[in-house]
Amino acid sequence: APHFAYRGGRLMADEVPLEDVAEAAGTPVFVYSRQAVLDAAEAYRTALAELPATICYAMKANGNGALLRSLATAGLGVDVVSAGEMKLALRAGFPASRIVFSGVGKTAAEIGEALDAGIAHLNVESEAELEAVAQVAAQRGKVAHILLRVNPDVAAATHEKIATGHKATKFGIALEHAPALYARAAADPWLEPIGIAAHIGSQIIDMSPYRTAFGRMAELVDALRGQGLTVTQVDLGGGIGIRYRDEPLPDLAAYGAIVREIFGHRDVEILIEPGRSLVGNAGVLLTRVIYVKKSGGKTFVVVDAAMNDLIRPTLYDAWHEIVPVHPAPGAPVVPVDVVGPVCETGDYLARNREMPEPVAGSLLAVMSAGAYAAVMASSYNARPLAPEVLVDGGRHAVVRRRPTMDEMTALEAVPDWLAPAPP
Ligand code: LLP
Repeated sequence: APHFAYRGGRLMADEVPLEDVAEAAGTPVFVYSRQAVLDAAEAYRTALAELPATICYAMKANGNGALLRSLATAGLGVDVVSAGEMKLALRAGFPASRIVFSGVGKTAAEIGEALDAGIAHLNVESEAELEAVAQVAAQRGKVAHILLRVNPDVAAATHEKIATGHKATKFGIALEHAPALYARAAADPWLEPIGIAAHIGSQIIDMSPYRTAFGRMAELVDALRGQGLTVTQVDLGGGIGIRYRDEPLPDLAAYGAIVREIFGHRDVEILIEPGRSLVGNAGVLLTRVIYVKKSGGKTFVVVDAAMNDLIRPTLYDAWHEIVPVHPAPGAPVVPVDVVGPVCETGDYLARNREMPEPVAGSLLAVMSAGAYAAVMASSYNARPLAPEVLVDGGRHAVVRRRPTMDEMTALEAVPDWLAPAPP
């Protein structure tokens, strides 16, 4: 069942009317359905059933502590990309043994913290990083478990800023360099290479690039084993895309079938790191219309959410569905620009969107705002970060509140050699 649906003429998050959340927490506010996240995790489990597979939530998509706690409790692992994310994961209750550390620029300090915490493994992305891990591991007298992240050189159809699997990006080790590096790691007493990883990009709907990439990874597994090297883990990277608009419904069963076909008989443990597909459609950004402004032959719906809250439309030309919380039957459907109060032309949530013309004061829900939304927000224009609310059945709770102005400036200091403000 959909977790955001109309009942009695109003939009609900599970059993909670969104107007109640707006009332309790103010707007703009992110609203997440806990059950939607758990259902999405379950869908991955079903798709990968009968495989030795671990799902490690890519927490870069949404690092809210209450969501992390829900996923940790559900038994998932987690993929982190900084010492900060690692600490959030530990704090949320993920056992170190289910934490994997990805990322192209881990510092020696971060590598050290990861080894001290005893996480499952590091995904190593370059020869230089391999040397750094070896050095830190030797200093600490701790063997580092690593996967080599390779770049399978496939071009996947997604936005260029989030395609990562072709060789002209900064990610991973070229396939042809992997065997020598893997052997080099295996020969180091402080390194234990246990497998390979890849991530070809995000918001991928078409399954064929996965088949190509996984096929190349399987060949590499065979080649490494042929050299007498041990390979027990294959990390397939992020999850499949989600439906924002009218994309074909992403097919997890087809994805699972590809994984089973390519790796099912290869005696490897599978790991996948979905982010967007676990949380993306489990959240909305709730916003209130401040003004409806007609000028230059256009209709601007000025709302209290802005590019600082949800930058995806501005940054990636992303399309997010925007719907009224209380539909007004008979409202004329017109093309509008939904814009925020930020002083930039690029501050829009939708452009030339055909929708029933909203009235000032009404609530709108910006859909599919559970992933890469709150985590990418900023306080530009001294706008406080929007709070986050978690819905669970019929209850809801603020799981991150809106900061006060004092909290927003708490890290600032005025040096005493600056002249005091004029009286
Ligand atoms: N693993 C690695 C190594 C990644 O780099 C990523 C995403 C994931 C897993 C999770 O991918 P997902 O399952 O979410 O597709 N801010 C962009 C998306 C950036 C994705 C970065 N890497 C957006 O708003 O579309």
